Amino acid sequence: MRILLMGPPGAGKGTQAEKLTEILNIPHISTGDMFRKAIKDQTDLGKQAKSFMDKGELVPDEVTVGIVKDRIKEEDCKNGFLLDGFPRTVVQANALGKMLEDLGIKLDSVINVEVPYKDLIGRLTGRRICRSCGATYHMIFNPPKGEGVCDKCGGELYQRDDDTEETAKNRLLVYEKQTAPLLEYYNNTGLLVNINGNQLMEEVLAEILKVLGK
Ligand code: AP5
Ligand code: MG
Ligand code: ZN
Repeated sequence: MRILLMGPPGAGKGTQAEKLTEILNIPHISTGDMFRKAIKDQTDLGKQAKSFMDKGELVPDEVTVGIVKDRIKEEDCKNGFLLDGFPRTVVQANALGKMLEDLGIKLDSVINVEVPYKDLIGRLTGRRICRSCGATYHMIFNPPKGEGVCDKCGGELYQRDDDTEETAKNRLLVYEKQTAPLLEYYNNTGLLVNINGNQLMEEVLAEILKVLGK
């Protein structure tokens, strides 16, 4: 299956992607995760992306489109993939359309996870992530059993640099301006399905799986 997972920062895209990709046995392609890895590895891509991410702005389209183009050509994407956080602009959506056309493939579904604005800042500022395995927690909604330690692998939990209140607020503004218009774009293709993201994580997952016919 080829799936786009959309929704504002903090909607739960990464949380759902972790489960969905395991159940559906397809790779999870998160442009945000790819940029964070590049920053950690201090590559040229990381240097380019960091100044934008630190401010909560989008990384330029040509950079972002380039990394996705290379990624979806890889062998493990042959039987499908889940894109999380891409596309985020109309330019990116058009570029994705062209990439898929060139590869002779089509999207199966565009899932949009909806959460009220007032709940998003709290989700972002309370988020913690495992340095070793990438698992996502929340200090209130999904706390780890031991403080600062990952339940799954014992790794150290950290807070993303862009999860401060100030940067999170800007990310939400950027989302409204540059990414929300894409919902209309995908609605016009007939692929868009809205999911209530303001319920328990397991309930969100069940709703998505139902839409996907799984
Ligand atoms: P990216 O990493 O994609 O961040 P984002 O879109 O801002 O989304 P998040 O990862 O913050 O939220 P999420 O929906 O994954 O939520 P999560 O599941 O973690 O992008 C980061 C930056 O990279 C961008 O700002 C930009 O600079 C750059 N970038 C990336 N892609 C780009 C692109 N295409 N073009 C240009 N630039 C790009 O959940 C959040 C929290 O809520 C967690 O703590 C979780 O435990 C909790 N939670 C999840 N579900 C629930 C629930 N149902 N109930 C209660 N709590 C929940
Ligand atoms: Mg995410
Ligand atoms: Zn871990």
